[in-house]
Amino acid sequence: MSGDIVSVVEGCGGYVPDRILTNAEIATFVDTTDDWIQSRTGISERRVVSDDESTSDLGVRAAQAAMADAGVDADDIDLIIVATTTPDLTFPATAAIIQRKLAVARGAAFDVQAVCSGFVYALTTADMFLKSGSHQCALVIGAETMSRLMDWNDRTTCVLFGDGAGAVVLRAEERPHTNGADRGVLATHLRTDGQFTELLFVDGGASSTQDTGFLRMQGNQVFRRAVDLISDAVRVAANDAQIAVTDIDWFVPHQANKRIIDAVGRKLGIRAESVVETVAHHGNTSAASIPLALHAAVSDGRIKRGDLVMMEAMGGGLSWGAALVRY
Ligand code: UT7
Repeated sequence: MSGDIVSVVEGCGGYVPDRILTNAEIATFVDTTDDWIQSRTGISERRVVSDDESTSDLGVRAAQAAMADAGVDADDIDLIIVATTTPDLTFPATAAIIQRKLAVARGAAFDVQAVCSGFVYALTTADMFLKSGSHQCALVIGAETMSRLMDWNDRTTCVLFGDGAGAVVLRAEERPHTNGADRGVLATHLRTDGQFTELLFVDGGASSTQDTGFLRMQGNQVFRRAVDLISDAVRVAANDAQIAVTDIDWFVPHQANKRIIDAVGRKLGIRAESVVETVAHHGNTSAASIPLALHAAVSDGRIKRGDLVMMEAMGGGLSWGAALVRY
């Protein structure tokens, strides 16, 4: 059969570490309150890794869940893309470490670094590899241990982030062109504006300080730009797929702040019941937040096969983007 190659999401999985860090506990060591955190961000708790857990451990657990959901095993996978800003080591790529832990023996594995937008970047990259015909079955993983980048004396950042991982299995399918009626990745849109690197960055790195550094953010400056940039990306992705934003069944946004999610939803006219929110329990897990939210809504039965799902994210870079999938 000759036709288009489409990347179909065959399954998804998520994993968060056991340890729950509540707002009340954070308020015992920095000058903050549960009320401030909840009212400004919507976050009530987040998960944090134990001393012996790393980003690859979280990624492996999410990947195993996604593979089980998709009904694929290690021999089927020929591409692993990990979105992370908290790699186990400077090198090799966390994707290579995960490849070994999953006993995947063929294909390619590499990391994508676009911070909170990382999952949208990784999904877009995998979609392009599959559509090119070079690879057939990809694991796309967002995995983060953001707790390791926190300055736990800085109340403006340490209350915001959490640890976790989510993953999807994407498989290439060749079929006649169907105008987006069948399942698959329908449109993706990525943007970066490097003018704003100083608004959100980590003040360390291998070639500068030779240490890991801590996350620094001018939160209100990022917030000011977030709603417009995210809304634009969603509109472009919808337009490319020739659908109206109001036609989407589910909106699965990056989970940085409930106020940003709600403002984007209002601006785009998305029904509140279609918005998937996990920020209250996960905080901002950077590249892991979209697949974790997707997994939450798939496993509780909200998102079903054939539903139109719009994902979006914005973060350090500044980088942002959107991906529209018929699940
Ligand atoms: O995922 C990557 C993208 N990141 C984001 O999208 C995050 C975007 N930014 C945000 O979510 C919000 O800007 C924050 C939640 C970080 C902050 O909310 P805000 O409404 O923008 O507050 P603000 O930064 O303007 O600060 C207001 C006040 C300040 O005090 P003064 O200067 O008015 O006296 C802060 O010092 O709140 C103070 N403050 C806190 N107070 C209690 C900042 N952090 C805290 C805290 N507890 N944890």
